[in-house]
Amino acid sequence: MTEAILLVGGKGTRLRPLTVHTPKPMIPAAGVPFLTHQLARARAAGVEHIVLATSYLAEVFEPYFGDGSELGLHLEYVTEVEPLGTGGAIRNVASRLRSGPDDPVLIFNGDILTGLDIRALVDTHASSGADVSLHLTRVPDPRAFGLVPTDADGRVQAFLEKPQTPEEIVTDQINAGAYVFRRSVIDEIPTGRPVSVERETFPGLLSSGAHLQGMVDSTYWLDLGTPQAFVRGSADLVQGRAPSPAVPGRCGDRLVLPGATVAPDAKLTGGTVVGERAVIGAGARISGTTVLADAVIEPGAVITDSLIGAGAVIGARCVLAGAVVGDGATVGPDNELRDGVRVWCDAAIPGASLRFSSDE
Ligand code: GDD
Ligand code: MG
Repeated sequence: MTEAILLVGGKGTRLRPLTVHTPKPMIPAAGVPFLTHQLARARAAGVEHIVLATSYLAEVFEPYFGDGSELGLHLEYVTEVEPLGTGGAIRNVASRLRSGPDDPVLIFNGDILTGLDIRALVDTHASSGADVSLHLTRVPDPRAFGLVPTDADGRVQAFLEKPQTPEEIVTDQINAGAYVFRRSVIDEIPTGRPVSVERETFPGLLSSGAHLQGMVDSTYWLDLGTPQAFVRGSADLVQGRAPSPAVPGRCGDRLVLPGATVAPDAKLTGGTVVGERAVIGAGARISGTTVLADAVIEPGAVITDSLIGAGAVIGARCVLAGAVVGDGATVGPDNELRDGVRVWCDAAIPGASLRFSSDE
């Protein structure tokens, strides 16, 4: 079966401070490093050989996933000396591929949660005879993505990465971050310098007349690159809305990992995850939130749609909504944190210091 490349070297800047100590693909979603879900889904589609293209915090992947045999995979790791961008990263792992020049090679962005039928993408590639085939999805606001207009046969007409002007917003179809490349196309990417597959390789292939084929579908799709998206993706995995064979435990309203302590009257809903050894105090109400390992939520805290870093402490009666709290941070009692606020790793916020409302 087809082999795959996984791009996992990005800095994950939009997820800071959670990506200060942990590369984005290693942040736990539904209790396991997010990458586990992608690896398990690829394996379920029959992929056995996967090369991880690493750069930022590269050293943490191999100690966790090893040779991949626990997942039934054969994993290899290639680290860039300097970040090579998406196209450069793909080219940089070419020597590890076993495919022949005309064979298909799967390539995945390392931050996508999707129900994509991977085999259908490979089949589309084979039947269309394309040089590159792309999974496309429709989103309400395509500006943060690569726009990919296609003709009636699904053939790609243009690739417009992160459009800057209203005139460039010609479609709501975007690059969903999964491709099949004909192996020889990978070998033609220049070596030894950064290359963006989105800004250089795809437009270059199109202008030289190559055949790029789009496969649009409406299955579950989410880029977990922002805190808001990450918590939603994790909650969707827990609730079974996003498909993954790697969720530890049965799907439901909550996932409590081994060694966690949850007060009997605490309420955990909306796909909340409580990490290993975390502690949830009496009367706490937590919804749609990811609480990482060793964090402590003190009594009476009310938390929705937030990410609480490893070992962080959220004081009694705090109200958090759409907040990110970095690893090891301490938020004293009676604080209110809302809407995109990011508390840095190891920061300490004194009790009753932050409010978003004037009431007591
Ligand atoms: N090895 C390596 N080296 N990997 C990298 C590098 C690098 O220099 N730069 C980025 N990556 C990896 C990231 O880790 C991520 O898995 C993937 O490449 C895409 O990078 P993002 O930073 O997440 O890009 P994006 O979300 O802004 O846009 C990309 O994904 C969209 C779909 O979510 C583009 O491919 C868009 O066209 C696409 O629509
Ligand atoms: Mg992304």
